[in-house]
Amino acid sequence: MIQINRIHDILQEVEAFIPKDVYELEQFRIKYLSKKGILNDLFTEFKQISEQDRKKVGQEINKIKTLVTSKIEQFKLNFSKETTVKQLNDISRPAAQFHLGSRHPISLIRRQLIEIFSKLGFSVAEGPEIEDDWHVFSALNFPLEHPARDMQDTFFIERNPDVLLRTHTSSVQVRAMQNLPPPLRLIMPGRVFRNEAISARAHCIFHQVEGLYIDKNVSFADLKQTLLFFAREMFGESTKIRLRPSFFPFTEPSAEVDVSCNICSGSGCNVCKYTGWLEILGCGMVHPNVLENCKIDSKIYTGYAFGMGIERIAMLKYEVKDLRLYFENDIRFLSQFQSVI
Ligand code: PHE
Repeated sequence: MIQINRIHDILQEVEAFIPKDVYELEQFRIKYLSKKGILNDLFTEFKQISEQDRKKVGQEINKIKTLVTSKIEQFKLNFSKETTVKQLNDISRPAAQFHLGSRHPISLIRRQLIEIFSKLGFSVAEGPEIEDDWHVFSALNFPLEHPARDMQDTFFIERNPDVLLRTHTSSVQVRAMQNLPPPLRLIMPGRVFRNEAISARAHCIFHQVEGLYIDKNVSFADLKQTLLFFAREMFGESTKIRLRPSFFPFTEPSAEVDVSCNICSGSGCNVCKYTGWLEILGCGMVHPNVLENCKIDSKIYTGYAFGMGIERIAMLKYEVKDLRLYFENDIRFLSQFQSVI
């Protein structure tokens, strides 16, 4: 038999109910409103109630029902608001910063070099990093006993026949001369490998850009003018160059090229070691033996070649003192190089 006290207890329980989450609210709904729930039980029992108590008990049960439904509605609304607010947190807050990667400084200089030389009509040629002795040394007029072939400089993969990692991109010059008819006007950017101890100034992997121009009547004056143009584009309008005699087996005559120090403008600083000059590349007129090795008639054609290290140019341009930084992938270093290209 239904007890008025029990109804009051239920009413109190409903009034005190505060759900923690949607799950608890659902449990509450099931407990009171489902088919086997408390309210259905109360309505069943209500049928047996005496005439005189009917009105009063009926009102109380209805009170419970109304309270249960309104609680459910109210908390449903609260929870949906709460999740929206939680998700958005603070809608007036500025958006989280979007981090874009930046180009590697070596890529920046490589692109700039390609751009500068393309203004003079040079196109890009590429070749394999794993080479044979002929393309890296023999075709380039290196005598058999030349120290550059030594184990200490070259990484050999196999011996007899020799398979090795190229020590310069001059091997691409050989491939271009063999495969394309002159005139040729090419630059060869690429990775090269030398068996050197890693230090602030040397690495066993680095990048080069070499250039080759072969045509009738190419002279040393053409070479000088090309290099002056390059130096001014890369280091600024007032940059000067100077050439010092040098030696490479594949060029004759050969020269080493310096640019006026772009940091102290020639007055002397610790980067140029107080000389006012920075060494940046090697160059020369292609040796007739090299042309002949590649089946180009050296009586009809002449040419010049030059080669430089991208790391070296990047170090001078960005004033980076330790070459190893280019290989460490440290985001604090790399993110300092912002680019639009
Ligand atoms: N191949 C030379 C080097 O790696 C650079 C060079 C290229 C010099 C072309 C002269 C002409 O050091």
